[in-house]
Amino acid sequence: MITDEDRALHRRAVELSKNAYAPYSNFLVGAVLRARDGRLFGGVNVENAAYPLGVCGEKSAYVAAVTAGYKPGDFDLIAITASPCGGCRQWHVEFAVDRVVYANNEGELVEHTPAELLPDTFVL
Ligand code: THU
Repeated sequence: MITDEDRALHRRAVELSKNAYAPYSNFLVGAVLRARDGRLFGGVNVENAAYPLGVCGEKSAYVAAVTAGYKPGDFDLIAITASPCGGCRQWHVEFAVDRVVYANNEGELVEHTPAELLPDTFVL
């Protein structure tokens, strides 16, 4: 169920998306990742003239959290302004976040677990 707090964090992600560097796609993405201790990490997409070198908003948020010492399993929520791409779905699985909240293509806020977004992931 989408809560008022989910909506508030999603609004923060929308605010953050204004900082995205996306001159090639003009598709601005913001993400807010919440650790279980309540600490928040923001991320935006950062593109590059060499297109494949660009980084997604969610990845930026996870990288910021890992840089601060957080690990897989430490997160209960990530709110994103867009439906996560295939690669980011694998990142949500890797970091075992409880819930992924995003605005779907109809603009409606939805929530899913990583396993719902990417079933049958491999195990190394
Ligand atoms: N993008 C994200 O940041 N996250 C997603 O999950 C979807 C796609 C970015 C990557 C690229 O900078 C732009 O959106 C267009 O694909």
